[in-house]
Amino acid sequence: MPSKRKASPATKPESSSGSRKSKRLVVERPDPVVAQPSDSDFEPEPVLSSKKKSTRRTTAESSVVACQSESNDKKLKKPTVEKAESGVASPADRDFVSESDSATPSKKSTRRAAVKVEPLVDSVAESDFVEEEEVGGMELGSLKSLSISPSKRKPKRAEKVKDEECVLAGDPVPDAEARLKWPHRYNKGKTNGTKSLNGQDDPDQLIQAKCHFSRADVDGQIYYLEDDAHVKAADGEDDYICKIVEFFEAVDGVQYFTAQWFYRAKDTVIKSHDQFIDKKRVFLSEIKDDNPLDCLVTKLKIVPVPSNATSQFKENVKSNCDFYYDMKYLLPYSSFISLPPDTTSPVSSSSTISSDIDAGEVKEHNLEKKLLDLYSGCGAMSTGLCLGANSKGVKLVTKWAVDLNKHACDSLRLNHPETQVRNEYASDFLSLLKEWVQLCVSCSLIKGSVPPHPHLKVTDEVDEDEENDDVGEDSGDDKEGEIFEVEELLEVCYGDPKENNKPGLYFKVRWRGYGPEEDTWEPIDGLSDCPKKINEFVVKGFKANLLPLPGDVDVVCGGPPCQGISGFNRFRNKENPMQDPKNKQLDVYMDIVDFLKPRFVLMENVVDLVKFSNGFLGRYALSRLVGMNYQARMGMMAAGAYGLPQFRMRVFMFGALSSEKLPQYPLPTHKVIVRGVIPVEFESNTVAYDSVRDLELKKELFLGDALSDLPLVENNEPRDEMPYTDEPKSDFQHFIRMGRDGLLGSVLYDHRPLQLNEDDHQRVCQIPKRKGANFRDLPGVRVRPDNKVEWDPDVERVKLPSGKPLVPDYAMSFVGGSSSKPFGRLWWDETVPTVVTRAEPHNQTIVHPLQDRVLTIRENARLQGFPDYYKLIGPIKERYCYD
Ligand SMILES: C[S@@+](CC[C@H](N)C(=O)[O-])C[C@H]1O[C@@H](n2cnc3c(N)ncnc32)[C@H](O)[C@@H]1O
Repeated sequence: MPSKRKASPATKPESSSGSRKSKRLVVERPDPVVAQPSDSDFEPEPVLSSKKKSTRRTTAESSVVACQSESNDKKLKKPTVEKAESGVASPADRDFVSESDSATPSKKSTRRAAVKVEPLVDSVAESDFVEEEEVGGMELGSLKSLSISPSKRKPKRAEKVKDEECVLAGDPVPDAEARLKWPHRYNKGKTNGTKSLNGQDDPDQLIQAKCHFSRADVDGQIYYLEDDAHVKAADGEDDYICKIVEFFEAVDGVQYFTAQWFYRAKDTVIKSHDQFIDKKRVFLSEIKDDNPLDCLVTKLKIVPVPSNATSQFKENVKSNCDFYYDMKYLLPYSSFISLPPDTTSPVSSSSTISSDIDAGEVKEHNLEKKLLDLYSGCGAMSTGLCLGANSKGVKLVTKWAVDLNKHACDSLRLNHPETQVRNEYASDFLSLLKEWVQLCVSCSLIKGSVPPHPHLKVTDEVDEDEENDDVGEDSGDDKEGEIFEVEELLEVCYGDPKENNKPGLYFKVRWRGYGPEEDTWEPIDGLSDCPKKINEFVVKGFKANLLPLPGDVDVVCGGPPCQGISGFNRFRNKENPMQDPKNKQLDVYMDIVDFLKPRFVLMENVVDLVKFSNGFLGRYALSRLVGMNYQARMGMMAAGAYGLPQFRMRVFMFGALSSEKLPQYPLPTHKVIVRGVIPVEFESNTVAYDSVRDLELKKELFLGDALSDLPLVENNEPRDEMPYTDEPKSDFQHFIRMGRDGLLGSVLYDHRPLQLNEDDHQRVCQIPKRKGANFRDLPGVRVRPDNKVEWDPDVERVKLPSGKPLVPDYAMSFVGGSSSKPFGRLWWDETVPTVVTRAEPHNQTIVHPLQDRVLTIRENARLQGFPDYYKLIGPIKERYCYD
């Protein structure tokens, strides 16, 4: 029963990333201009750096007690950040970490409205960030700082706790037992290495106990340890939800309970994108707070749902509880992790679709792990994943790949003959998968909850002569009345292959008596006379894994293009990026995951996912995964930190079915120089070490490490293949030149550049061959003290033989004249920012250090980590398109 007493709001975890123990991407910060703001850069002095800082935790308006003290603050490298708008930090902003697998729990404070917040630094406009752009000065993330009005009031608890409505009840826990169970409460002055509440080591920060209890009486309700309860929040806010993990009387006589908090979805990183998540579903955090007893409002029934629970169990739970939880929410990398399985009562998870495939075959198949690469390009991501998995003994194979770019598909096919490469829209692929399941049901290949395909009725009594009856309607273009006979169905697709605005399921037909040049796409309803042919095709396709069925896929990987959030797009929909058709692929990607239910998901995307519109799409994607009952986490990794001579920071979202172990992020192996800016709230999502101490990381790779062994080629190099001329000069070169057979290759493919036109070639020829050279070094260009270019009035504008200017206007005006990228030469001792897919030198640094040309296809591919044996197909320009 809810209390009639008006309790004071409870202590809740405070907002933001501020209180995270600082993690370190393995970083050198040689250049304050381009480096990511360091922890100290964020220090909003003097708010958290002085003794005053601690007051915000202990003095917010009413009688809230926090566990942290000044000494904790001193440990922090980042400021605590709360939302300026409301003045109340939402649980989503909390950032004290207590994940067992990495970070150390940190501090917290009250969430009360009394916290007054003033902005310190305006948010960086997302549009300001273009990774490849020069950063003209230190940019700070969405940093706001606190100015606390410390309440001088002491907690009123002391008066209140003696109230008979609100007391610790029963006999105290025997002293020896209490000291054993909660040593941190009795250790004042001793540092025995025990982690205290929220992971702080300093016993001085903890409220010291006189004794512990195992129950309390609050408003006539008896609360026991491990009970779940509603806890009073600030007015207008939903009551907090907790598990009671301690009852104790402090040395000063005040009586407390310790709350371990449950988060609603909206309290997690998902924030307002909680529409995919059941309102009764909460997430158990590892965050704990001490609160006065009278914050308890009422008991709750919160039921844990183990990862092996049946759907029936889940349904029962939902209708018989206040809340339920099947996952923990851990702050590092915004992780949602399943509860362990209940081993005491084994419960089987029932699949909706079962295959009739022979059991022996299933066993065999299980040895191989199947991967679907969505938006595959020519397969960089899946190739890397499979190579990595194989090196660890996991036989991961790219079974299916989907991309709408024909040339990318051709390249993928060439290098992966084992892959069913589908050159189509991902949304059409999803429609096809749905139809395919129905076809398989029609052909009795699988049993499932879906009905058979409406256009395919296969009966056992197939007439021997049906072969001859399998005729399709003519396509209408041919001689009137002519009947064509179907010889064989060759392919299937969903879409509009005849381009007559009739999207649907189509088969490619080989007509009897006609050759491949007469093959046509025919809609399934036009083939209603040919059930046997369709049956044959489906059975063959099923056996050959032509298309994945739900439950078939081990891993879905891919980076759905979200051009609607790109920094290059000036018309981005900030309010609701998911209404922008340019971001639709994120939903298509998740819909495919939802349909196929792969065991693991790996989604990669640009950092704008967490930068644009307050991280809208990152939160949305996590919400979709968690809403589909996937465990999930989101981290950011820089390719350069793993041994590529390219920085390339990307977001990697992991998903895993609740029955699987959600993978951890691999930690960096190489030092990198951090570029770009990550919003403060997501800073701690950067995959990094907790400390750089004692780390022996490899030196970052430079352009020279990757390319110095490649033969000299000209701007007009015509050869697609040539011999290597030099031995590998670095470990990287040795590795990248190794063939599939583990031996060094002898033929070098694709070492030719996109040929510059004569004017551009002339321009490039005049760029000096030294580090940092670019169009600014050409005659007539002057650099002002503000680092912008202007024409030198004393120099007459130089013309090329064509009559065009040597220095084009677009170079002078690019990024308001502040860019040094046009016609920029790369240099041997540089890590490239991020390789782009356009090989033009007009607005990017892509010219070879010593040769008068842009990087070749092979050089570009090496910077991406493609092995030299990976051949690309298509026009030269298209062969660069593999990011
Ligand atoms: C950034 S690239 C992907 C690179 C790829 N992940 C790799 O590792 O090489 C994005 C790809 O998405 C493809 N694409 C864009 N929209 C698509 C759609 N609606 N359906 C399928 N592919 C699409 C593009 O053709 C492009 O190859």
